[in-house]
Amino acid sequence: MRIAIMGAMLEEVEPFLELSEHEPLLKYFKKHNDIEYGGNVYHEAKYKNHEIILGYSKIGKVNATLTAATMIEKFGAEMLLFTGVAGGVNPKLKIGDLIAATQLCQHDLDITAFGHPHGYVPEGAVYVKPSANLLHLAKEVADEKDIDLIGGIIATGDQFVADKSRKDWIKNTFEADAIEMEGAAVAVVCEAFNIPFFIMRSISDTADEGAVEDFDEFLKHSSQRSSSFIVSMLDKIK
Ligand code: ADE
Repeated sequence: MRIAIMGAMLEEVEPFLELSEHEPLLKYFKKHNDIEYGGNVYHEAKYKNHEIILGYSKIGKVNATLTAATMIEKFGAEMLLFTGVAGGVNPKLKIGDLIAATQLCQHDLDITAFGHPHGYVPEGAVYVKPSANLLHLAKEVADEKDIDLIGGIIATGDQFVADKSRKDWIKNTFEADAIEMEGAAVAVVCEAFNIPFFIMRSISDTADEGAVEDFDEFLKHSSQRSSSFIVSMLDKIK
């Protein structure tokens, strides 16, 4: 199968690329072709029976949309796995914990002036759901590895949230468990093209006043945890 592995920042996909100072997760990725397209670099590689297309979009919904669509339409991805970090909103989520999105929404999409709910535009839906099969697979991996994987709602927006009142608003409006800046955009693209997808995030901060410092400190470690989980999923995908 041709599988896209996508992150938003270089640090989020670095564990796959051996650029990291950590032990590389995928030695196989040493031998990859780098292709520049539309302002991003895509890495084509083989991993076991899979053909992988790996890349990072740069931060935000527009960049994520471009990269997800490119991976599908230009590089022929038949499945997309997203790996990266998020701000924790659910108090159960501590830094380093893993969350798999069960639903994604856009917290900054707002045509409430026309009487619509937050996160909704006509012909769309507030929430988009990832592949049930991939969520099931993730649960199997978590059980085998004795990882406490939380499934929950991820709210996406073009904003790094470092403010308790904004965080609480997003939590209360969308019942969000975590916040990030790309997942729902990827979800909308994959749903439009009928491509099964999965969004994994490891918590880097708790989206309040200490978020910037925590993000800088834990980005690398949390990215490693998320990537490592994705590799274990790859091992199980037929
Ligand atoms: N990604 C990681 N932490 C985040 C935060 N606090 N806000 C938005 N995106 C994030």
